[in-house]
Amino acid sequence: MNILLLGSGGREHALAWKMAASALTDRLFCAPGNAGIAQEAECVGLDVADHAAVIAFCRESRVDFVVVGPEAPLCAGIVDDLEAAGIKAFGPSRDAARLEGSKGFTKELCRSAGILTAAYERFRSAHEAKAYARSRGAPIVVKADGLAAGKGVVVAESLAEAEAAIDMILGGELGAAGAELVIEEFLAGEEASFFALCDGETALPLASAQDHKRVFDGDKGPNTGGMGAYSPAPIIDAAMSARVMTEIIEPTLRAMKDTGAPYKGVLYAGLMITTEGPKLIEYNVRFGDPECQVLMPRLMSDLVPALLASRDGVLKSLDLRWHPQAALAVVMAAKGYPGAYQKGTVIEGLDEAAAVEGVEIFHAGTKRDGDRILANGGRVLNVSALGKTVREAQARAYAAIARIRWPEGFCRHDIGWRAIAREK
Ligand SMILES: Nc1ncnc2c1ncn2[C@@H]1O[C@H](COP(=O)(O)OP(=O)(O)OP(=O)(O)O)[C@@H](O)[C@H]1O
Ligand SMILES: [Mg+2]
Repeated sequence: MNILLLGSGGREHALAWKMAASALTDRLFCAPGNAGIAQEAECVGLDVADHAAVIAFCRESRVDFVVVGPEAPLCAGIVDDLEAAGIKAFGPSRDAARLEGSKGFTKELCRSAGILTAAYERFRSAHEAKAYARSRGAPIVVKADGLAAGKGVVVAESLAEAEAAIDMILGGELGAAGAELVIEEFLAGEEASFFALCDGETALPLASAQDHKRVFDGDKGPNTGGMGAYSPAPIIDAAMSARVMTEIIEPTLRAMKDTGAPYKGVLYAGLMITTEGPKLIEYNVRFGDPECQVLMPRLMSDLVPALLASRDGVLKSLDLRWHPQAALAVVMAAKGYPGAYQKGTVIEGLDEAAAVEGVEIFHAGTKRDGDRILANGGRVLNVSALGKTVREAQARAYAAIARIRWPEGFCRHDIGWRAIAREK
C-alpha cells in the first residue's frame, strides 16, 4: 500500500524507519518530513493544517493509509476529515483526541470512571481558582486546559507561584488553550510513560518508557520537549503493567465508547507510580517524542499491520513481539535550546556514528543542503541504541555521539541514570 505519514520530528523518523521496512509498504510519503526521514520516505511539502490539501494529495498519489504523528492535527480532526473522504487514517477522531486536547475532559472522565488521578477542580475565574489553591496549599499544580506545547503546566512550589500561573494562563498568554484551567493535587512518586494501541474496544499494551525533561545533567535546568528516554521503564514490571491496563487503560476505553467517541490510535498514559499504586497524570493521543525513538527499535513485529488493525478495529487478533533488550535514546540539541539557538550549523560524522553496533540515528530538526546535513531546529538528532541492559544501550549511544562532529550541538551525559542505578 501507499502510506502517508504526517509530521517532521524524531518520532516520525522512527515511525518512517519501521514503516519503510514493512512488507505492506509500497510507497511511503511524509509531509513535511526532514533530512533523515528523506532517507526512508518521499518528503512532500504539504501544510498538514490544510486538510483539503492533504486529501487532494492522497487522491493524486493513491495513498491508501495515513498515519498521523503529532497531536495538533489529531485535535483539529484530520482523521475525521480523511475518513469522511474515504481515506483510511491511523489515530483518534477529534472527539477522542480530547483525551489530550482537554485536561478538564480527561479529569472528568477519570472521576466518572473511577480512574485514580490527582484530586482536582476546573476553573474559568482567577478569583475562584486562587481561592481553591489557597484552600489546598502548596505544592500544587496548575494546568491550562488545552494544547500548549508543554508550556501549560506549572508545578508550583508556593502559593505565590500558583497565583502567578493562574494569572498567566487565564490572562491569555497561552491563547485559547488557557481559557480554562485545572488545578490539581501534587503527586509524589516516580514518573513513567505507558503506551497502548487501541481500536475502540481492545487495548494492546505496547511498552513502557521513561524520559528526561530537564535540559541539564542531574535533571537540572529548564524543561524541554525531552532530552532522552529509555524503554522499558524498570518500575513498570509485569504486575504493574497489568494494573495499568486494568485500572487505567481499559476503563478509559470503556468510558470513551460510552461517550460516543471510541478511542482508536496510540494511547500514551503519563503515570505517577505512587505508594497507592499507579495514578494517571495525563493522556497524550500519539506516540511520545523521544519515547517513540526507543519503542520502535524494540519492536520486532511489522508496525504497519498493527496500525491498520487499530484503524480497522481488529486488534484482538493481533500479537506483537518485542526485543527483550533495552533501548535508550540521547537527544542532541542546538546549544542554547530550549532558549534561543542557531540554525544552519553543519553536522558531520553521522555515518560513522550509525555504524556503532545497535545504533540507529533518528533526525528531529535537520535539513539537507547538497551533501551536508544542517541543524534546523532546537532538538536536532536522537541517537538510539539497543543493549542487553540500559547500561549497554547507554554506552553504545554515547560511543556513537563521540563520532558526531557538531561543535554547535550538545547533549546530556546521564540519560538513563535512574535505570542504570537500579541495574547495579
Ligand atoms: N499532579 C501532579 N503532581 C506532580 N507532578 C505533576 C503533576 N501533574 C503534572 N506534573 C509534572 O508536570 C509534567 C507535565 O504535566 P502534563 O504531562 O500534564 O503536561 P503536558 O504539558 O501535557 O506534558 P507533555 O508535553 O508531556 O504532554 C509531568 O510530566 C509531571 O512531571
Ligand atoms: Mg500532554
